[in-house]
Amino acid sequence: MKPVTITNVLHEYQWDELSEKDQILIEKAKAVTANSYAPYSRFAVGAAAELNDGTIVTGTNQENAAYPSGICAERTTLFYANSTFPDQPVRTLAIAARTSKDFIAEHIAPCGACRQVILETERRYKQPIRILLYGKDSVLEVKGITDLLPLCFDGSSLDMG
Ligand code: THU
Repeated sequence: MKPVTITNVLHEYQWDELSEKDQILIEKAKAVTANSYAPYSRFAVGAAAELNDGTIVTGTNQENAAYPSGICAERTTLFYANSTFPDQPVRTLAIAARTSKDFIAEHIAPCGACRQVILETERRYKQPIRILLYGKDSVLEVKGITDLLPLCFDGSSLDMG
C-alpha cells in the first residue's frame, strides 16, 4: 500500500484584488439571488456565467415542494447557457449565496451534482471553467472543476464502441 496525495492549489482574493471583470460577474451573481425561488430552504443562490464571447447569463436555484424536483443555481445557469448559446463555452462561473439575513461569510461550495454537470460541460466544450466562489470576506478562484472533483468520472471509461 502507498498513499496517493492529491494536491490542489486554489487562489483566495480580497475584493480589491479582483479584476473589474470578475467583480462585475460576481455582482451579477449576487444580484440575481433576488430571483431565487427558495421557499423551503430560504437559501438563495445566484450564478453568473461569462461565455467565451463575453455574454453573461445568470440563473438561480428553483425549489419545489417535492424537494428533489428543484435545481441548483449552477445547473440552471449552465443548462440555460448551453441551451441558448450552444456554440459559446462558459469561460467563468461566479456563484454567490445568501440566507434571509445576508450573504454567507464562507465561500459557497457547489454540490456534488453541480460539480458533475460542470465537469460534463468542460468535457463537452474541451475548455476548463474557471469558478469564482463568493464569500463575504473573500473570493476563492478555482481554475477548473477537477480541482473540486478529483478522481472524477467523465465517461471516458465508457465503452462507446
Ligand atoms: N444550492 C444551490 O443552488 N447551489 C449550491 O451550490 C448549493 C445549494 C441550493 C439548492 C437548494 O435550493 C438550496 O440551495 C439549499 O440546499
